Amino acid sequence: MNFEPGDKAMLTDRKGRRYLLTLRTGALFHFHRGIVPHDLIIGQPDGSLVTSTGSEVMTVFRPTYADYVLKMPRGAQVIYPKDVAIMLMQADVYPGARVLEAGLGSGATTMALLRAVGPEGEVIAYEQREDFASRALTNIEEFLGKVENLQVRMGSIYEPIEPTEVDRVSLDLPEPWRALPQVAESLRPGGIMVCFLPTILQVQRLTEELQADTRWTSVWSQETLTRTWHIDGQSVRPDHRMVAHTGFLTFARITVKE
Ligand SMILES: C[S@@+](CC[C@H](N)C(=O)[O-])C[C@H]1O[C@@H](n2cnc3c(N)ncnc32)[C@H](O)[C@@H]1O
Repeated sequence: MNFEPGDKAMLTDRKGRRYLLTLRTGALFHFHRGIVPHDLIIGQPDGSLVTSTGSEVMTVFRPTYADYVLKMPRGAQVIYPKDVAIMLMQADVYPGARVLEAGLGSGATTMALLRAVGPEGEVIAYEQREDFASRALTNIEEFLGKVENLQVRMGSIYEPIEPTEVDRVSLDLPEPWRALPQVAESLRPGGIMVCFLPTILQVQRLTEELQADTRWTSVWSQETLTRTWHIDGQSVRPDHRMVAHTGFLTFARITVKE
């Protein structure tokens, strides 16, 4: 489908710099290499080329999930796409699954969960800050459009929660061990939990709490280092820069409750 007013478009210049636009009839995109009228993009197909008034030839694509998440306005820090990718696969988030999430943050993880569970699934997300929840809902709607299968519950997941049965749990908050009683109550036998944590001391504390409760099994942690390569003629080597640390993922599976 060709670009229409209101669509998101990702412009990339020859140096790989990326610009995320929301297309509006008559609007102009200004940057250091001139101007690109939005009307040059509206009506064109995904993957088009446009030339700015400063003669910069740019590609125009619909943003991927990763493009959007790294450019969207943030309230809370998002989980990077490289970590979200592993979370979805290792926690086996499947079409039709019901997922309990906390906290909603900027909505980045929620969007990935919503795409993985599809229209038959559901995401129930806890968040304690109104401003973050409102930012997240705007981000989600801007990327996915109106979603019917997201329930946002305002409040702390460290406190007793409304009874809920879910297949998967995704936690990204500072003290996930404080949510374990609520999670263990909600997660169906065989269900999988994944927690994102930035420091190894948090991972150790969480792991000890999981090991102390015999209902939890298959507890393991991992981190994901992504090293990109520079390939240009005879110069073939790893890039000089990388995102060296984002966080750790801890997974656990729950057995039948006694
Ligand atoms: C790092 S952010 C989550 C970011 C989110 N995963 C994303 O990718 O956009 C952590 C969020 O957890 C929320 N939070 C912290 N403690 C919480 C609690 N006890 N219950 C619910 N939400 C909580 C914070 O307000 C914040 O929005």
